[in-house]
Amino acid sequence: MKSFCVAVVGATGAVGNEMIKILEERNFPVGEIKLLASERSLGKNLEYKGKSIPVEVLKEDSFTGVQIGLFSAGGSISEKFAPLAAQAGCVVVDNTSAFRMVPDIPLVVPEVNPEAIALYKNRGIIANPNCSTIQMVVALKPIHDAVRIKRIVVSTYQAVSGTGKKAVDELMNQTRALLSFQDPVVKVYPHQIAFNCLPQIDVFVDNGYTKEEMKMINETKKIMNDPSIAVTATTVRVPVFYAHSESVNIETEKKITPQEVRDLLAKAPGVTVVDDPQQRLYPMAIHAAGKDGTFVGRIREDESIPNGINMWVVSDNLRKGAALNAVQIAEILGKDYL
Ligand code: A2P
Repeated sequence: MKSFCVAVVGATGAVGNEMIKILEERNFPVGEIKLLASERSLGKNLEYKGKSIPVEVLKEDSFTGVQIGLFSAGGSISEKFAPLAAQAGCVVVDNTSAFRMVPDIPLVVPEVNPEAIALYKNRGIIANPNCSTIQMVVALKPIHDAVRIKRIVVSTYQAVSGTGKKAVDELMNQTRALLSFQDPVVKVYPHQIAFNCLPQIDVFVDNGYTKEEMKMINETKKIMNDPSIAVTATTVRVPVFYAHSESVNIETEKKITPQEVRDLLAKAPGVTVVDDPQQRLYPMAIHAAGKDGTFVGRIREDESIPNGINMWVVSDNLRKGAALNAVQIAEILGKDYL
């Protein structure tokens, strides 16, 4: 059986940590593992399969002999080090937004467009999409294939862990401070996040949208390989630690009933339908956290238009939204291409 030398770049971060766990859980054929981070982590050790592995400082020559690199240390690190890694013969699965919209770099969700993985040969890089986009396209692809989606209107309720460890600490510290009648310290987000909702994720661009919203719009078209789908998004950060929730409204070319959507999604890879309102059953962040699936519920007709469906889509942003999707890509790479 083949095994691979795998590097995790950003191993000490929220996503990196999850990548290590998922490689272990899924028994990925790791021959050797290299855990890379900044100088701040020098001297730290992380566990992999019961062994304590020292964290190494990321350097230009870190990728000699490495076959697969899972990157999640921020866009500027990927911009500099992913091409160096590719030059050294390492295939990079990059979780940042650095390369997602580069035309000859594939942007992959294995349940949606696994065939695009073959395009890794262009640059030695495969991009992992934005967390909110991944869970949405996993739920929408089977519907698009059946009745063609013409338009998507999505609003997100995104967990702070998507911003990294420092944001998880900030929500915890602000909550603690406010419950003790102290002033909350605001560092990571532009405003207090505890007991609040922020209709700003990432920075604003010229059209009044945020970068996160534009990522959902552009990445959805690229992954679904259909630039004709109209997409509009409002992305909101909410005081939740783990798992993103989304209200998704679609308009389809052909009519589809809510029951037909339930039946389609019940068979769809990676999707679990949780939809029994009488029993108060619908997907919730507290249940999706720590799980691999994309959970869909509240499936109902949008009665304001002829062919409309509303649904609620929830998934763990660090797992399917980031680390799990990257490891699934690596699995296909290892099995079919390397
Ligand atoms: P470090 O812990 O050494 O700072 P998060 O998204 O949770 O904030 O994590 C970011 C990850 O990216 C961490 O593992 C962090 O390492 C890593 N990182 C940040 N800056 C650099 C850098 N200049 N070189 C290598 N790794 C970096």
